Amino acid sequence: MRVAVIGTGYVGLVAGAALADFGQQVICLDKDASKIELLRQGQTLIYEPGLPELAQRNLQAGRLQFSTDVEAAVRRSEVVLIAVGTEGLPDGRVNMTAFYEVAQQTASAMEHYTVIVIKSTVPVGSAAELTRLIHQHQKTPVPFEVVSNPEFQREGSAVKDFFKPYRIVLGVGSEGAIEIMKEIYRPLLAAGTPLVVTSNETAEIIKYAANAYLALKVSFINEIANLCDRLDCDAQAVSAALCLDPRIGRYLSPGPGFGGSCLPKDTAALIQQAQAAGVKMQMVEAAVEVNNAQANHIVGKVKSRLGTLRGCTLGVLGLSFKGNTDDVRCSPSIRICELLLAEGARLRVHDPTANRNARALLTSSQVVFCSSPYEAASEAHGLLILTEWEQFSSLDLRRLKAVSHGDVLVDARNILDPKAVIEAGFSYDGVGRQARPLDPEAVLTPGGSLKRVISAP
Ligand SMILES: NC(=O)c1ccc[n+]([C@@H]2O[C@H](COP(=O)([O-])OP(=O)(O)OC[C@H]3O[C@@H](n4cnc5c(N)ncnc54)[C@H](O)[C@@H]3O)[C@@H](O)[C@H]2O)c1
Repeated sequence: MRVAVIGTGYVGLVAGAALADFGQQVICLDKDASKIELLRQGQTLIYEPGLPELAQRNLQAGRLQFSTDVEAAVRRSEVVLIAVGTEGLPDGRVNMTAFYEVAQQTASAMEHYTVIVIKSTVPVGSAAELTRLIHQHQKTPVPFEVVSNPEFQREGSAVKDFFKPYRIVLGVGSEGAIEIMKEIYRPLLAAGTPLVVTSNETAEIIKYAANAYLALKVSFINEIANLCDRLDCDAQAVSAALCLDPRIGRYLSPGPGFGGSCLPKDTAALIQQAQAAGVKMQMVEAAVEVNNAQANHIVGKVKSRLGTLRGCTLGVLGLSFKGNTDDVRCSPSIRICELLLAEGARLRVHDPTANRNARALLTSSQVVFCSSPYEAASEAHGLLILTEWEQFSSLDLRRLKAVSHGDVLVDARNILDPKAVIEAGFSYDGVGRQARPLDPEAVLTPGGSLKRVISAP
């Protein structure tokens, strides 16, 4: 099948390369001509494990192409995926400018029956609005279908998630479009991926509900962790014990709060859509409120050790919003850096992949970008670990201590062994975690999940 993917960012590039891998003929499109040129040369630009290999394999096989010519690509395609950005506006509404721009381009180029698939996260009612717009802008009135097919990939494991999704959600109005979508996702359905077929509107709200629920979990465990800090309890053990109950599941790691390009804007958009419908989303609003306070909570840990931060040098490890990605959009690390700068601190920052993106956000002359954790720690009065990069959990702590000028270490991701940190000469502050050795009976992985459980006698 011939497929056009409009918007070649984190979602569009992964989807386009993966669909090409399934055997479809895919053209990925973007309005950014320099990005398209680099993609043609085999450079994927974003850091996403497995993506360069996937893109190159399909580029070389001739199944994957890149272009800026949306109209030509639409004319040759049976299926058009829209995966442009839908950023949040300050009042919580969604910026639909790019989405409607490509909708009009698609409409005016269509010359035959086309299935238009919405991959972008869009407010409820967007598929209906897209249908209206296409009717309005079609030059040749040909039949078409609009399918809502929200994307649930996680940055950092987007390729893996695309090939092994928890479910495929299709909001669709006709059997014909369902059959075409089943063909697109044939290998995933053959492997047993659950398929949820529903109305466009329900598919649209499923995406917002999923992200709101994830946000609730993050804020819930952070609230518990902050209480554990006060009551001398271990939030890591609480999390591990909770996760053993399948009704509770996973995704309960205390930390600096949720961020990234999705959860903050999608919770805001859900609250705003509910308000417009006369409904108050009390739990989602509370999750956002808890999250907004979490960065201050982390800064408070450094301040309680160092007193004033004015004139202090702090080493910051991790700038991306989570490990395994170079994405710094709404990163809690960036927010914490801004708060530390406002307190008068000087920062030496390092991230394995996100330094380049973070330079655009951390423009203060008080920020020095460093090429290694040890360079960031050099002459620092305190250290903060803000992103759960695998390599930060195996740092040479004695070497870090030797280059530092202080002994404060705040582990905002709970990835270090407190005992080892203290033995290296630092103080230890985690999130809801006490500075004592872990119970050897319950070994925790850096993400907070249990690696091994030995049942109590
Ligand atoms: N990033 C994620 O992990 C993720 C996960 C699930 C859903 N989503 C949703 O998917 C959508 C895309 O997210 P993303 O992170 O890939 O965004 P992104 O910003 O990485 O990529 C969007 C791309 O669209 C391009 N674009 C914008 N306007 C265009 C136009 N008029 N014509 C052609 N190209 C245009 C941009 O140049 C950019 O390359 C958003 O709605 C987002 O909420 C993202």
